[in-house]
Amino acid sequence: MPQNIVLIGMMGCGKTTVGTLLARRFNRPLADTDTLIEQRQGCAVRDIFQNCGEAHFRSLELELCRELSGQRGLIVACGGGLPLRDEAIAPLKESGPVFWLDRDPGETYDSLDVSGRPLAQSGRDDFLRRYQNRVPLYRRWADYIIPCGGGPQAASDLISTIYSEVFQP
Ligand code: S3P
Repeated sequence: MPQNIVLIGMMGCGKTTVGTLLARRFNRPLADTDTLIEQRQGCAVRDIFQNCGEAHFRSLELELCRELSGQRGLIVACGGGLPLRDEAIAPLKESGPVFWLDRDPGETYDSLDVSGRPLAQSGRDDFLRRYQNRVPLYRRWADYIIPCGGGPQAASDLISTIYSEVFQP
Protein backbone atom coordinates (compact mmCIF):
# COMPACT_ATOMS: atom_id res chain seq x y z
CA MET A 1 0.00 0.00 0.00
CA PRO A 2 1.25 3.52 -0.75
CA GLN A 3 2.30 5.81 2.07
CA ASN A 4 -0.14 8.31 3.56
CA ILE A 5 0.03 12.00 2.71
CA VAL A 6 -0.17 14.01 5.94
CA LEU A 7 -1.18 17.69 5.92
CA ILE A 8 -0.47 19.97 8.87
CA GLY A 9 -0.79 23.72 9.42
CA MET A 10 -2.71 26.45 11.12
CA MET A 11 -6.50 26.37 11.21
CA GLY A 12 -7.87 27.91 8.03
CA CYS A 13 -4.73 27.33 5.95
CA GLY A 14 -6.63 25.03 3.57
CA LYS A 15 -5.85 21.49 4.79
CA THR A 16 -9.35 20.20 4.09
CA THR A 17 -9.58 21.89 0.68
CA VAL A 18 -6.12 20.76 -0.39
CA GLY A 19 -6.79 17.32 1.09
CA THR A 20 -9.98 17.03 -0.97
CA LEU A 21 -8.08 17.94 -4.15
CA LEU A 22 -5.36 15.39 -3.36
CA ALA A 23 -7.93 12.71 -2.57
CA ARG A 24 -9.46 13.29 -6.00
CA ARG A 25 -6.09 13.47 -7.73
CA PHE A 26 -4.83 10.16 -6.24
CA ASN A 27 -8.23 8.52 -5.90
CA ARG A 28 -7.66 7.94 -2.19
CA PRO A 29 -9.82 8.46 0.89
CA LEU A 30 -9.55 11.71 2.82
CA ALA A 31 -9.27 11.31 6.59
CA ASP A 32 -10.00 14.73 8.06
CA THR A 33 -9.34 14.39 11.78
CA ASP A 34 -11.83 17.07 12.90
CA THR A 35 -14.58 15.59 10.72
CA LEU A 36 -13.90 12.04 11.92
CA ILE A 37 -13.96 13.14 15.57
CA GLU A 38 -17.22 15.03 15.02
CA GLN A 39 -18.80 12.03 13.26
CA ARG A 40 -17.75 9.61 15.97
CA GLN A 41 -18.70 11.83 18.89
CA GLY A 42 -21.89 13.05 17.20
CA CYS A 43 -20.85 16.47 18.36
CA ALA A 44 -19.16 19.55 16.85
CA VAL A 45 -15.52 20.30 17.77
CA ARG A 46 -16.72 23.60 19.23
CA ASP A 47 -19.08 21.75 21.59
CA ILE A 48 -16.44 19.19 22.60
CA PHE A 49 -14.18 22.07 23.64
CA GLN A 50 -17.01 23.80 25.45
CA ASN A 51 -18.46 20.78 27.23
CA CYS A 52 -15.43 18.59 27.87
CA GLY A 53 -12.41 20.90 27.48
CA GLU A 54 -9.41 21.02 25.17
CA ALA A 55 -7.57 18.18 26.97
CA HIS A 56 -10.41 15.80 26.20
CA PHE A 57 -10.42 16.86 22.55
CA ARG A 58 -6.66 16.26 22.37
CA SER A 59 -7.06 12.76 23.77
CA LEU A 60 -9.69 11.99 21.12
CA GLU A 61 -7.28 13.32 18.52
CA LEU A 62 -4.47 11.13 19.88
CA GLU A 63 -6.61 8.00 19.79
CA LEU A 64 -7.58 8.74 16.18
CA CYS A 65 -3.96 9.37 15.14
CA ARG A 66 -2.94 5.98 16.48
CA GLU A 67 -5.65 4.39 14.39
CA LEU A 68 -4.93 6.33 11.18
CA SER A 69 -1.19 5.77 11.41
CA GLY A 70 -1.82 2.03 11.18
CA GLN A 71 -3.45 2.54 7.78
CA ARG A 72 -1.89 3.36 4.42
CA GLY A 73 -3.07 5.08 1.25
CA LEU A 74 -4.85 7.90 3.11
CA ILE A 75 -4.78 11.64 2.69
CA VAL A 76 -4.75 12.82 6.32
CA ALA A 77 -5.85 16.41 7.00
CA CYS A 78 -4.83 17.11 10.61
CA GLY A 79 -6.50 19.55 12.98
CA GLY A 80 -4.28 22.61 13.40
CA GLY A 81 -3.20 21.75 16.94
CA LEU A 82 -2.54 18.06 16.38
CA PRO A 83 1.26 18.44 16.24
CA LEU A 84 1.15 19.96 19.74
CA ARG A 85 1.49 16.42 21.04
CA ASP A 86 4.47 14.44 19.85
CA GLU A 87 2.61 11.19 20.56
CA ALA A 88 -0.08 12.22 18.05
CA ILE A 89 2.01 13.47 15.15
CA ALA A 90 5.00 11.09 15.46
CA PRO A 91 3.14 7.93 14.38
CA LEU A 92 1.47 9.81 11.54
CA LYS A 93 4.86 10.97 10.31
CA GLU A 94 5.95 7.36 10.22
CA SER A 95 2.96 6.57 8.01
CA GLY A 96 3.96 9.00 5.25
CA PRO A 97 5.46 12.37 4.35
CA VAL A 98 4.22 15.44 6.26
CA PHE A 99 3.44 18.61 4.31
CA TRP A 100 3.08 21.91 6.19
CA LEU A 101 0.67 24.23 4.41
CA ASP A 102 2.18 27.55 5.34
CA ARG A 103 -0.27 30.35 4.63
CA ASP A 104 0.18 33.96 5.68
CA PRO A 105 -1.47 34.09 9.13
CA GLY A 106 -3.00 37.56 8.67
CA GLU A 107 -4.58 36.53 5.38
CA THR A 108 -5.71 33.28 7.01
CA TYR A 109 -7.40 35.05 9.91
CA ASP A 110 -9.10 37.57 7.63
CA SER A 111 -10.71 34.80 5.59
CA LEU A 112 -11.39 32.46 8.54
CA ASP A 113 -14.82 31.36 9.66
CA VAL A 114 -14.09 31.67 13.39
CA SER A 115 -17.52 30.42 14.48
CA GLY A 116 -16.65 26.71 14.65
CA ARG A 117 -13.10 27.31 15.89
CA PRO A 118 -12.79 27.62 19.65
CA LEU A 119 -9.14 28.70 19.54
CA ALA A 120 -9.78 31.57 17.15
CA GLN A 121 -12.13 33.47 19.41
CA SER A 122 -9.65 35.93 20.89
CA GLY A 123 -9.02 38.16 17.92
CA ARG A 124 -6.45 38.69 15.21
CA ASP A 125 -3.42 39.44 17.42
CA ASP A 126 -3.94 36.30 19.44
CA PHE A 127 -4.24 34.29 16.22
CA LEU A 128 -0.97 35.76 14.88
CA ARG A 129 0.77 34.98 18.19
CA ARG A 130 -0.53 31.43 18.13
CA TYR A 131 0.81 31.03 14.59
CA GLN A 132 4.25 32.33 15.63
CA ASN A 133 4.30 29.97 18.61
CA ARG A 134 3.48 27.03 16.42
CA VAL A 135 5.91 27.76 13.59
CA PRO A 136 8.79 25.83 15.22
CA LEU A 137 6.49 22.89 15.78
CA TYR A 138 5.19 22.78 12.21
CA ARG A 139 8.72 23.22 10.91
CA ARG A 140 10.00 20.42 13.13
CA TRP A 141 7.49 17.88 11.90
CA ALA A 142 7.28 18.90 8.23
CA ASP A 143 9.12 16.96 5.57
CA TYR A 144 8.11 19.67 3.10
CA ILE A 145 6.94 23.26 3.54
CA ILE A 146 4.30 24.26 1.01
CA PRO A 147 3.72 28.00 0.60
CA CYS A 148 0.02 28.63 0.13
CA GLY A 149 0.00 32.12 -1.41
CA GLY A 150 -1.01 30.70 -4.79
CA GLY A 151 -4.19 29.07 -3.47
CA PRO A 152 -5.25 25.48 -2.79
CA GLN A 153 -4.99 24.17 -6.36
CA ALA A 154 -1.37 25.33 -6.65
CA ALA A 155 -0.56 23.83 -3.24
CA SER A 156 -2.20 20.55 -4.20
CA ASP A 157 -0.33 20.47 -7.53
CA LEU A 158 3.00 21.00 -5.76
CA ILE A 159 2.32 18.24 -3.24
CA SER A 160 1.20 15.90 -6.05
CA THR A 161 4.42 16.55 -7.95
CA ILE A 162 6.63 15.99 -4.90
CA TYR A 163 4.75 12.90 -3.80
CA SER A 164 4.69 11.36 -7.29
CA GLU A 165 8.38 11.98 -7.88
CA VAL A 166 9.74 11.05 -4.46
CA PHE A 167 7.31 8.54 -3.02
CA GLN A 168 5.83 6.85 -6.08
CA PRO A 169 8.85 6.29 -8.31
C1 S3P B 1 -7.41 23.56 16.33
C2 S3P B 1 -7.74 23.51 14.99
C3 S3P B 1 -9.02 22.99 14.52
C4 S3P B 1 -9.62 22.00 15.51
C5 S3P B 1 -9.67 22.60 16.87
C6 S3P B 1 -8.31 23.03 17.39
C7 S3P B 1 -6.10 24.13 16.73
O1 S3P B 1 -8.83 22.33 13.27
O2 S3P B 1 -8.89 20.81 15.53
O3 S3P B 1 -10.55 23.70 16.81
O4 S3P B 1 -5.66 23.92 17.86
O5 S3P B 1 -5.47 24.79 15.87
P1 S3P B 1 -8.63 23.10 11.88
O6 S3P B 1 -7.16 23.34 11.74
O7 S3P B 1 -9.11 22.13 10.88
O8 S3P B 1 -9.43 24.34 11.92
